Amino acid sequence: MMMRVKQIVMLSVLGVACTVLFVSFRATNTTNEIPQISDEGKVQLEKLVSKSIKFSKDVPEPNAKSKANTNVIIEDDNHILAVAKRISSRYRTVLVTMVNDAYLSFTYSWLCNTKNMDIHKSVLIITTDKVSKDNLTRDWPEISVVSMDWSTSHGDQTYSQVGYVKIMVKRTEMLLSMLMADIEIFLFEVDCLWLANPIPEFQKIEGYDILVNPVAGTGEKVYAGGFLYLFKTDKAKKLWKKVTEDMIALGEKISSKSDKTAVSEADNDQQYLSRLLNQKYADIKMKLLPLDVYADGQWYKLPEDKRNQSHPIVINNNWVVGNKAKIERAKKWKHWFIHDDLTCDMDLVKKVVYK
Ligand SMILES: *[C@@H]1O[C@H](CO)[C@@H](O)[C@H](O)[C@H]1NC(C)=O
Ligand SMILES: *[C@@H]1O[C@H](CO)[C@@H](O)[C@H](O)[C@H]1NC(C)=O
Repeated sequence: MMMRVKQIVMLSVLGVACTVLFVSFRATNTTNEIPQISDEGKVQLEKLVSKSIKFSKDVPEPNAKSKANTNVIIEDDNHILAVAKRISSRYRTVLVTMVNDAYLSFTYSWLCNTKNMDIHKSVLIITTDKVSKDNLTRDWPEISVVSMDWSTSHGDQTYSQVGYVKIMVKRTEMLLSMLMADIEIFLFEVDCLWLANPIPEFQKIEGYDILVNPVAGTGEKVYAGGFLYLFKTDKAKKLWKKVTEDMIALGEKISSKSDKTAVSEADNDQQYLSRLLNQKYADIKMKLLPLDVYADGQWYKLPEDKRNQSHPIVINNNWVVGNKAKIERAKKWKHWFIHDDLTCDMDLVKKVVYK
């Protein structure tokens, strides 16, 4: 700060103070501007979209009545679209989440939590590394797992740091790729308590493009980036393509920075999505998933009587920074469903989930 003042004083002697002030003003404000995608980024985005559209044309909707389709050969079995299509043809909605190795224990806890909800066959977990994929596939054979094998994303990633944002860019792209292949998606995060299965309710909703959950305390102006339902409508596709464009641009902006570098809180998928929803981009029809039913981490901070009166279906374990703190909170509240050896504590699950 002192340096800057001194420089301005010195430069003003030279008569260019205005320029310097202007430059430093701009520098502190650039974080609130949406980064602009490069031409290369645009090409990448269009490739992603056309690849998905081609996929959905080449691989027809598998239909139980038509024998012809059962023999469709999908070349790369690990290909995310092939896996997602297989799920959606049977269960309609693909429950997508992305995890890295540091998040594996959370994933196991959530899988135990939802073990008896009859949804694991709809779950598609994208892992950022191969070991997580292998372990999950071995221990939870009902779920589908695809790995990105992406060396930069190992270890504990903290919210609003470059490493974390890079994973979010990838996640946004993968969602677009599925949506463009006409696959309906529910995006969730595994650091979440499920007291009941919310999917049947979501599937009953008609006439909307997207279901979003507001972030507590934002006057319903910011929507959770990790808990949303995307219908396969043209408007939802258009919206998500724009979110992806903004995220690719952000990825380009931070590409040369190290993983632990801080990224402005104004720059992430949640902020970009919220901005577009608030300006009704593409004339999007969104429905709010109310916080009293789909609670976020603020639920843990409610006074006890309010908590007792509430009847949420899910509680996202957010509003706490860092993996370790999250696990500690989950344990403290008896919302942690694995033993130290990663096996399920089903007695606890039965006590916590609704009958
Ligand atoms: C995967 O499983 C192996 C064998 O049980 C274990 O040693 C390893 O720590 C696990 N890896 C992760 C990332 O949990
Ligand atoms: C809330 O519920 C718990 C468990 O049923 C009970 O022990 C506690 O007294 C309740 N607290 C209030 C303020 O109602």
